[in-house]
This record gives sequence, C-alpha cells and structure tokens, in this order.
Amino acid sequence: MKVFISRAIPPAGLQVLEEATGLEIDYNQRDEGLSKAGLIGRASRAEGLLCLLTDKIDAEVLAGCPNLKVVSNMAVGYNNIEVAEATRRGILVTNTPGVLSESTADLTWALLLAVARRLGEGERMVRAGEWHGWGPLQLLGGEVNGKTLGLIGMGRIGQAVARRAAGFNMKVIYFNRSKLDQALETELKATRVGLDELIAESDFVSLHAPYTQETHHLIDGEMLARMRPEAYLINTSRGPLVDEAALVAVLKNNRIGGAGLDVYEQEPLLYPGLRELDNVVLAPHLGSATHQTRGEMSRLAATNLVMGLRGERPLHPVNPEVLEG
Ligand code: GLV
Repeated sequence: MKVFISRAIPPAGLQVLEEATGLEIDYNQRDEGLSKAGLIGRASRAEGLLCLLTDKIDAEVLAGCPNLKVVSNMAVGYNNIEVAEATRRGILVTNTPGVLSESTADLTWALLLAVARRLGEGERMVRAGEWHGWGPLQLLGGEVNGKTLGLIGMGRIGQAVARRAAGFNMKVIYFNRSKLDQALETELKATRVGLDELIAESDFVSLHAPYTQETHHLIDGEMLARMRPEAYLINTSRGPLVDEAALVAVLKNNRIGGAGLDVYEQEPLLYPGLRELDNVVLAPHLGSATHQTRGEMSRLAATNLVMGLRGERPLHPVNPEVLEG
C-alpha cells in the first residue's frame, strides 16, 4: 500500500512506517508544506496520508486522491480536514490527542506569565540597549497568584492547564459542553460556570476548545467588551476562535490587560496592527513544540495510519463511524 508523508516529521513516525510490512513510502522531506496541487500530485495514488495541520485536506484534495483509506493528522486539532467529506467517501481520519496536552499546557502558562509580567516588552528593552537599571515603576504588570483563571474548553489540555493553576493558588472556573465528573472537579478544584459568568469574572481567560462552526469567533467584540478591564486573554487552541479585528481594537484601546497568542486566524499572517502592540505576546504556534512531544505525535500519527490501513481500529479515530459502515 502506498503512503504519503506530506512534510518532514520527527524520525519516530517514519520508523514506525518503515517497520510496518507492505508499505511503499513516499516522503516530502522538506520542512515546508506543499501547495494543494503539489499535495494532490504526490498523494494521488496513496492509500494512506500522514499530514500536518498546515495541509488543507478539503473536498478537492480528497477527490484528487481517490485511493485514500486513511488520513492521519499529526495534530490533535483536525479543522484542517473536511471530516464530513472524508466520512462520505469512507475515509478514516485520525488525530494525536493526549501526547501533547502537557507541553501545550506549559506553553499556555508561558504565555500567561509572559503577558502578565510583560516579559516580551522587558526582553525587547534589554536587547535594544534601552534598559538603564531597576526602577520602582518599571514595567509593572498583573499579579497572577490568587487570581481567577477561566478556561473555555475543559478537555485534556484544559485540565492540564487547570492542574498547574494550583501552584498559583488560583480559583479555576470553566465553561464546557459537559460537566467533569465530581472526582475530577474536586481534584482540579474547578467549578463549571456559564460563558457569561466566566467572561465577567476571570482575570485570565484561556481558550482550549476545538475550532468548529460553533466556536468560530466565540470571543468577539461583545465578549471582549465584557472582560474585566485588567483581564488577559490567552489562546493556544485555534486562531479563529477569536475575532482578531475586535481583539486588536480592544488591545489598542487598552480595554483589557493584554493577550498571549500562539495561534492566529490566518497563520502565518498577523492581523494588521497586532505586531505593533506592546500588550500582546506573540508566539509562532509552539504549543506542542518540544522534542519529546513532537516525537510522540509523529509515532502516534504513524501508528494510527498503519492500524487504519490494516483495517484495525486505530488508537484515535476522529470519524469511527467509517469503521462501522
Ligand atoms: C496543534 O495545534 C495541534 O492541534 O496538535
């Protein structure tokens, strides 16, 4: 069976594919995504596709690769794939949850602390040779300890973020479709609230929900206007959960304390004006970017692909109904 890997990945996954019998592997070894035509050109005869979140696997790509049986995304988010269309075509889609929760939670905290404590501004000042010594009024930021952390989305990553909040003595509230079971709520010391309450009460609002039609611009101008004047917004999920135009407007007016962003509406493009603002920390989609996590994601994506191609139930099917059908 033919397998196409769309972009350079950590070697662990490649090894899984090489050790699996009966696979003919084609590998785009460049650390750069292919164009849509390039992707279709390379994957047109493949039964298995291992892709990244930078690959848009839409109806056109799926139609251009008529032999596909499994699309394995090396990411937990799969909004880059038209899953309904894949399902209609009987193509199994898989993702890589779990292995990246801790590293993404760490990055969330890195952004939260960086924006609250004005680390980016401070670093720029030092590097520019503009630091002239300690000052009692210099770069005063927001306190983290004891504040309220509001988590929108309380899956694996939200929970990992909540766990870390205990070290900062924070009150944790969350908004999620379903309530966590009582034991987990008690362990995380987290209370489920409505979205309006979360927005109004949080000193830090952090997003951990998948990107879907329902979460598109979940944080819009109206929501931002209801945040506390000194509150911070952190986004390590997907850019389009936030209306960036509205965010830039409130940041420009200092209507909230600031924002820490790892993801953007049109990656890698930045909304005009964002780059010039000092009250935002901008990271280049680094949530899962540790050696260990990316290795595990690579291995898991390859394992999902091999299992799916063998007709087994992969570890993480996104559309398991394909297996039943
Ligand atoms: C990263 O953004 C992922 O979804 O894995």
